[in-house]
Amino acid sequence: MQKYNISRSNYFYAIGLSYKKADAEVRGHFSLDQDSKLRLLNQAKENAIESLIVTSTCNRTEIYGFAQHPFQLIQLLCDNTRGTVEEFEKVAYIYKNNDAITHMFRVGSGLDSQILGDFEIISQLKISTNLSRKHGLLNHFTERLVNAVIQASKRIKTETNISSGATSVSFASVQYIFNNIENVSKKNILLFGTGKIGRNTCENLVKHTKNEQITLINRTKNKAEQIAGKFNLVVKDYANLQEEISNSDILIVATGAQRPTIDKHIIQSKKPLLILDLSIPKNVNPNVEELANVSLVHLDDLSKITDQTLEARREQIPLAEVIIEEVKADFNSWLETRKFAPTIKALKHKLNDFKVAEFDALRKKNPDFNEEQAELISNNIIQKITNHFAHHLKDDGVSTDDSLEFIKKIFQLEHPTTQA
Ligand SMILES: NC(=O)c1ccc[n+]([C@@H]2O[C@H](COP(=O)([O-])OP(=O)(O)OC[C@H]3O[C@@H](n4cnc5c(N)ncnc54)[C@H](OP(=O)(O)O)[C@@H]3O)[C@@H](O)[C@H]2O)c1
Repeated sequence: MQKYNISRSNYFYAIGLSYKKADAEVRGHFSLDQDSKLRLLNQAKENAIESLIVTSTCNRTEIYGFAQHPFQLIQLLCDNTRGTVEEFEKVAYIYKNNDAITHMFRVGSGLDSQILGDFEIISQLKISTNLSRKHGLLNHFTERLVNAVIQASKRIKTETNISSGATSVSFASVQYIFNNIENVSKKNILLFGTGKIGRNTCENLVKHTKNEQITLINRTKNKAEQIAGKFNLVVKDYANLQEEISNSDILIVATGAQRPTIDKHIIQSKKPLLILDLSIPKNVNPNVEELANVSLVHLDDLSKITDQTLEARREQIPLAEVIIEEVKADFNSWLETRKFAPTIKALKHKLNDFKVAEFDALRKKNPDFNEEQAELISNNIIQKITNHFAHHLKDDGVSTDDSLEFIKKIFQLEHPTTQA
């Protein structure tokens, strides 16, 4: 398949940045919360973009969409984040057509995740796709592509061991604590922020540290209480944050704010304090490192932890790639079919015109001819001829583009529309 410009004069692009080249600070500049995502989608509609999906997670921000030039998508991203075009250019990737499709498959299958085999991204992709659909920003091509990616990711999850063992971000934090703090079970641990990542971290902490001195604080207290109830942990008021930090040996920050929720002024005690910041953008102001008793570790450092589990997962990559190729081949053959469907339709139309003209001539010559039977025979022949052409175009050994041109020339077909 040489061309993917199935939309009139537009190409399919994936533009974005990820943990691979962009550090947490830069990723933070391009992160999109729900409001900015909605603003971006609305702007895309105003700009008459026909199909677009935008995802923003702690590890990456990406836009998949149709455009004449990728800058149209880059501009949308920069207009709705704190990032600039210059900054984007330094760390970004831009994929077109087949490469963009391959990229979505790899991302959605966890092969491009910061922690290999982390399937969190596929649920983000589903949510983003639903949002685009709601905004009328999803064409048939993108819908079908996302479904194929979901199918590949499901198969990889069940048919390989790529997500075996615990290597999530929250597990990595617990592992870090174990490797760096003695007597973990006797330490006071404070978890600030009990959203999704906070909840997972809490579960891992309870499971692995056997520590009963874990305190939870969340801006909305009842969310912390729901989690605490499950494990019998202590919940304190948001207003007591400073006091609770003073009582802690380890502070885990999992808040999802756009600006720091913790800075040096809130830390009053002089005893050693390890702070793990799991947020993107960073929610702990680096100025805490000015305090001699504080050591700060960010998510990006935690994710560098490699262990046996990750090694075992890496061995599964070739298997996952085979699955991706299989699903992608199905998708591409659907795409091929869509590409020639308008021409086959136009051909059928033309043959039908021949039939009508022949019938008119016959009626004049022989008013008694059996019209019903002639109709039946002609329609069967038309169907057989178009089927033969369709089979030929589906044949892997032929160049679809050349054959399409040839058919259009022979039958003098007008330009059939090829919109997705
Ligand atoms: N989900 C993941 O797999 C993952 C992985 C790695 C890193 N992260 C990062 O972890 C952070 C949290 O992600 P999440 O998925 O857990 O999000 P989430 O489920 O939406 O939870 C967000 C949490 O942050 C709190 N919060 C938001 N703004 C705040 C503010 N201004 N002050 C105090 N608390 C605030 C929320 O409190 P309320 O309950 O009061 O709203 C909630 O506890 C993000 O920075 C994200 O990038 C997430």
